[in-house]
Amino acid sequence: MAIRKIITYPHPVLKEAAAPVEKITPEILSLFADMADTMYAAPGIGLAANQVGVLKRVIIFDLSREGENKKLTALINPEIIWAEGETTHEEACLSVIDYSAEVRRSAQVKVTALNLAGEPMELEGEGLLAICLQHEIDHLNGILYIDRISSLKRMLYKRRLKKILKVEAL
Ligand code: NI
Repeated sequence: MAIRKIITYPHPVLKEAAAPVEKITPEILSLFADMADTMYAAPGIGLAANQVGVLKRVIIFDLSREGENKKLTALINPEIIWAEGETTHEEACLSVIDYSAEVRRSAQVKVTALNLAGEPMELEGEGLLAICLQHEIDHLNGILYIDRISSLKRMLYKRRLKKILKVEAL
C-alpha cells in the first residue's frame, strides 16, 4: 500500500473518461488500497481513480465523521440508474486546489456497481452520500465539479489558480 500523488486541475487526465473494469485483478485491489491510503492521508471523503492518474472506473469514499468508525466503500463501474429531486451543496475536491463552490445536483440517487469481490451491488443515497456519489462518478466521466458552476465563477477561479501556481513555481 502506498500514497499516490493526487493529480490536480488543470491536468488533462482529469478530463478523460475512465474505462470499465473488466475483472477484479490484483492490480485493481492494489489500486484500491493505494487510493484508500491516499484519500485518508489527504484527508478527503472521496476519491476517483482518475485523480491518481488511472483511467479505470473505481471510486472510494468514507463519509464517517471524526471519532466514528471508518466506513470505507469501494465501487467498481458505478452507474447512476435513478435520480430525483434537487439539492445544492458546497463542494470541494482534492484535485481542485484552494477552492469550493455551491453545486446543484440530484437530491437522491440510486447506483449500481460491483464490489471488490466482483459482486453486483445497489446503493441508494440522499444528502451527502448522494452528492458524493455524483461527484465521484462525474470524475469517471472526466467531469469536475467546477464544470458544473457558472462560467464566470470558473473563469475567476482559473485566474486565481494561475496566480497560485505561479507563486508555487517560484
Ligand atoms: Ni473530486
